[in-house]
Amino acid sequence: MLSKKQARAFFLGGTTVTFLIFIGLTIFSFGKDQTHKENITESVVRGKHLWETNNCMGCHTILGEGAYYAPELTKVIDRRGEGYIKAVLMTPVSWQPNGRKMVAYGMSEQEAEDMVEFFKWIDGIDLNGFERIVSPLAKDKIDN
Ligand code: HEC
Repeated sequence: MLSKKQARAFFLGGTTVTFLIFIGLTIFSFGKDQTHKENITESVVRGKHLWETNNCMGCHTILGEGAYYAPELTKVIDRRGEGYIKAVLMTPVSWQPNGRKMVAYGMSEQEAEDMVEFFKWIDGIDLNGFERIVSPLAKDKIDN
């Protein structure tokens, strides 16, 4: 049984050590360039803007953030390729090969191109080896 004094020392010691580990890991995380920000072109910025103004996150997740109605899109460029994604975004009719509907945005070639550039940039982020994120509810909707 620890005395009150020992318990206090144990608490303070434990708190200090874990706090220092936390600070150390934070410095380590910020020290790495995981975002390859030098590759953010104007097209990537326009794509991000389209992503935000069209409520894509109302249905999709990116980097795990968003809603779970539709597929995770962090690695969509790997999974589907440029042509497929442009077709999904430019088609004038709702894209729904598996029942759930993707909004028919009817984007222009340029807008679809900007979205693709944004997805390429997201794809290039260093995810610490975390290769593929899939929303649990959308998993059955992805066929590969
Ligand atoms: C109303 C919900 C909804 C919104 C909003 C939405 N999507 Fe989708 N999206 C879906 C669904 C559902 C699918 C899956 C269709 C299927 O079954 O293949 C999909 C599929 C996709 C795919 C193909 C993914 C794959 O793995 O096959 C891409 C790319 C995509 N959406 C991009 C976007 C972008 C970019 C936006 C915003 C501009 C957006 N979506 C907004 C519902 C939505």
